[in-house]
Amino acid sequence: MDTSKAIGIIITNPEFEDVRSLEGVAPTKNPCVPIIAVPTTAGTAAEVTINYVITDVEKERKFVCVDTHDMPIVAIVDPEMMSSMPKGLTAATGMDALTHAIEGYTTRAAWEMTDMFHLEAIRLISQNLRDAVENKKSGREGMALGQYIAGMGFSNVGLGIDHAMAHTLSAHYDTPHGVACAMFLPISMEFNREYTGERLREVARAMGVEGVDNMTQEEYRDAAIAAVKKLSEDVGIPTTLDKIKEEDLDTLATDALNDACYPGNPREATKEQVIEMFRMLMA
Ligand SMILES: NC(=O)c1ccc[n+]([C@@H]2O[C@H](COP(=O)([O-])OP(=O)(O)OC[C@H]3O[C@@H](n4cnc5c(N)ncnc54)[C@H](O)[C@@H]3O)[C@@H](O)[C@H]2O)c1
Ligand SMILES: [Fe+2]
Repeated sequence: MDTSKAIGIIITNPEFEDVRSLEGVAPTKNPCVPIIAVPTTAGTAAEVTINYVITDVEKERKFVCVDTHDMPIVAIVDPEMMSSMPKGLTAATGMDALTHAIEGYTTRAAWEMTDMFHLEAIRLISQNLRDAVENKKSGREGMALGQYIAGMGFSNVGLGIDHAMAHTLSAHYDTPHGVACAMFLPISMEFNREYTGERLREVARAMGVEGVDNMTQEEYRDAAIAAVKKLSEDVGIPTTLDKIKEEDLDTLATDALNDACYPGNPREATKEQVIEMFRMLMA
């Protein structure tokens, strides 16, 4: 879907022939050729977002293009198309969707309308991802809907440092996008916790944690992060990546801070802090 967006944009805006010139918000003049998007994973929501992500294999970086002209004219979101996904791909792409919903709910520009989408997406994904991994029909349906609703949210407000670090990790080590997002999710939530007001209470509630109204701020923040860790563990997401090398850390952190998703993060990070977050994944 992302590749079709880039091709569709270049066909109607040939002055951007080099896809690298489209990074960030590009001043394209024309809508892309009509795209009918049919997702076969339940994760990216690219069928409904204004973003596409391209990997520059020469420079070992992934970059995000943001352009309202790339929006597909029709999205066909059919859980049947997702039923052939193996367990690992279902888990990884589903955790990408959960990351969209949680990052979108705590991003700087979040507001009432996108909160509504993100909280419902968190609820649907938390309720259905385990069943989708078991290829149950209701799980597939819940995930098809949850990932789509998350896209309706984050496409309007952006994401944060989790996606910035995940793009960098995938570009350097070919880590699947959803796995990278999921490994960083508890780490980025912990990093941002003091900058999220009461939002992690609502994340915990949407994830099915009971008694959140009787918890202290520290307790509900811990509970939200614990619920994410538990879901990740239940669907088999690893917590470490042995490919990360000490000598790469400086470049990884620099690339993450230059990613288009980073400015949406509620907390500013220094390069040293980003290096520390990458280091947490080292086996
Ligand atoms: N546009 C956006 O807003 C947005 C948001 C998040 C992520 N992304 C980007 O999307 C890309 C990841 O997309 P993805 O997670 O959908 O995975 P993918 O498209 O990279 O597919 C992963 C693998 O799964 C296979 N596959 C797909 N559907 C299958 C099915 N139903 N059954 C069996 N195999 C299947 C594919 O052939 C491929 O080998 C990354 O580059 C990521 O950065 C884009
Ligand atoms: Fe994503």
